[in-house]
Amino acid sequence: MNLQGRTVLVTGSTGGLGREFVSQSLARGASTVYAAARRDHEWHDDRGIPLRLDVTDTASVASAAAAARDVDVLVNNAGITGAASLLESPMDEIRNTFETNVFAPLELVRTFAPILAHRGGGAVVDVHSVLSWLAAPGAYSPSKAAFWGVTNSLRIELAGQGTHVLGAHLAYTDTPMTANLDVPKSDPAVIVGRILDALEAGEDEAIADETTAGFRSVLGQATTGRIPSRT
Ligand SMILES: NC(=O)c1ccc[n+]([C@@H]2O[C@H](COP(=O)([O-])OP(=O)(O)OC[C@H]3O[C@@H](n4cnc5c(N)ncnc54)[C@H](OP(=O)(O)O)[C@@H]3O)[C@@H](O)[C@H]2O)c1
Repeated sequence: MNLQGRTVLVTGSTGGLGREFVSQSLARGASTVYAAARRDHEWHDDRGIPLRLDVTDTASVASAAAAARDVDVLVNNAGITGAASLLESPMDEIRNTFETNVFAPLELVRTFAPILAHRGGGAVVDVHSVLSWLAAPGAYSPSKAAFWGVTNSLRIELAGQGTHVLGAHLAYTDTPMTANLDVPKSDPAVIVGRILDALEAGEDEAIADETTAGFRSVLGQATTGRIPSRT
């Protein structure tokens, strides 16, 4: 899908990748970009519309959908690192990690699916992680693994209404989320550019950096939800 003239909604638009999704969608010619966030912020472009949205709040999701009836592309970008330990963090923190990273983007897709269908199909971009495939301590990597699975099943369920579903995977990227990690990090502008290239090319997956590509190469094709042909 070409973004020229399209309407895009980006969750977590106050974050490092979220700001890039908004500005690069505008640069690619989107007519409107709803910059959704759970706190007040401004966007210095008439086509960038701030929209209040806490992704974990069902009423907030419903009112965002009521305000944004013209969305062609839903970018499920909001996320948290969440609970540091599956054994020692409070269960509420673990549940909140899954609420934010798994159930919230699912609820957004369920809520916006009729709008996307009305617009001719549209697209969903789900921002996963290389940690969808790699285990790490805490709730983040299992939540991203679950989100990845949800995306692949949604790709099948949404095919009938012509909605393109893109799953994006990336390793460490230089945003507030990784500010206290002393590791090599990708430039968020480059990562978002690659994700939007994959969206415009109609890919099932965006593999946004070389680290992620290395891990992806050892996984099978069937993990996108598409069974490879034997012929
Ligand atoms: N940076 C990396 O290395 C990396 C690697 C792999 C995947 N990712 C994924 O990329 C996505 C973007 O992360 P980022 O690196 O840009 O992190 P970030 O700068 O911390 O941004 C995260 C955004 O999510 C928002 N958010 C969190 N909970 C929310 C809620 N309940 N409702 C609405 N918004 C909420 C935050 O809002 P507030 O500003 O209000 O907190 C913030 O705008 C996440 O899904 C993350 O898991 C990042």
